[in-house]
Amino acid sequence: MSEQTETGALRLENVTKIFGQGSSQVRAVDDVSLTIQSGEFVTLLGPSGCGKTTTLRLIAGFEFPTSGRLLLDEKDIANVPPNLRPMAMVFQSYALFPHLNVFENVAYGLRLRKMPEAEIKEAVNIVLHMMNLVGLERRNPNQLSGGQQQRVALARAMVMKPKLLLFDEPLSNLDAKLRTQMRMEIRRLQQRMGITSVYVTHDQMEAMSLSDRVVVMNRGKIEQVGTPEEIYQRPATMFVADFIGRANFVETDVLALDGRLAIVDVYGQKVQLACSPEIRVGQKAYAMIRPEAINLSSRTSNYMAEVKTAVYLGNSVEYEVEIEQNLLKVVDYDPTPGMMFREGSFVSMTFDPERSYLLPK
Ligand SMILES: Nc1ncnc2c1ncn2[C@@H]1O[C@H](COP(=O)(O)OP(=O)(O)OP(=O)(O)O)[C@@H](O)[C@H]1O
Ligand SMILES: [Mg+2]
Repeated sequence: MSEQTETGALRLENVTKIFGQGSSQVRAVDDVSLTIQSGEFVTLLGPSGCGKTTTLRLIAGFEFPTSGRLLLDEKDIANVPPNLRPMAMVFQSYALFPHLNVFENVAYGLRLRKMPEAEIKEAVNIVLHMMNLVGLERRNPNQLSGGQQQRVALARAMVMKPKLLLFDEPLSNLDAKLRTQMRMEIRRLQQRMGITSVYVTHDQMEAMSLSDRVVVMNRGKIEQVGTPEEIYQRPATMFVADFIGRANFVETDVLALDGRLAIVDVYGQKVQLACSPEIRVGQKAYAMIRPEAINLSSRTSNYMAEVKTAVYLGNSVEYEVEIEQNLLKVVDYDPTPGMMFREGSFVSMTFDPERSYLLPK
């Protein structure tokens, strides 16, 4: 088996999926268009019920779109049944065969394809080696840890050399530490094999650390598609800004515009902020200021705020400060030992305009 698999490019064109009839209708996926490049790792991220799993099931062929088209390498796959789509799916529940040992679980799909025994042996051994499962071949799934079971599920998907790997919250059943470790393994494996991957999660850390691009979904619709940096630094909507990390929103007036830079008034100070293309002069807008973009100091300045809460977390201190009846979240990731601001004290506040962004109201 060569390391590089022939891998697919996927396109969704105005895909809609409606469940149910009449008044109980649910628009689970609402006019979604998306192009995924060959070899790309794309994550669908969003809150519960936003349509992530349904989108993945449409791609896999377990559901049929109400309208719209799905194209794999520019070919419409509407009439290709799920078992004939060159895709493999990894589930949260692992879905291993309990009565088959590790080797047989991984070999299962190749046996269905009637691959000669010697080739099966070789292909399975390569994948078991790649997934650090050597020595566990004869064990049954109930004799494995959760992390090992998930690696078997991954091996079973990889051995089929799919053009497309689909993941639905594959790490949710693992504890936090194992989740981080598996996350890195998946990323390494995907980069090494270069298989086009669509990964579903509601965990933003997982999405940020794994993906080439993240698709943020909300109520069946795409809110934004971008690299992890783009969605964090230049969120398209308040929903994205709030869902990815934490954000403060300060209402401001747009005083002037110069291309993608706006002059706004933040608590009586004129500052220049990068802005969304929808911003117009004279509008009300929200300055999105990340908690880590705010600096507190004991000097006096034009922005004086009262410390309402201060929580020491070891590698950081989290504050809530009040300024003009607004409560702002502040994180200090480099706290000086013994120099924490006390609750009730007044501090001077500055924020970094370069790490802030202006969004339409
Ligand atoms: N077979 C079905 N019949 C009716 N409604 C459905 C069906 N499957 C999903 N839905 C509805 O479609 C919407 C999207 O569901 P989906 O499972 O895609 O969400 P999700 O983003 O994967 O959520 P979660 O993070 O909770 O897994 C929800 O409102 C859900 O109740
Ligand atoms: Mg789901």
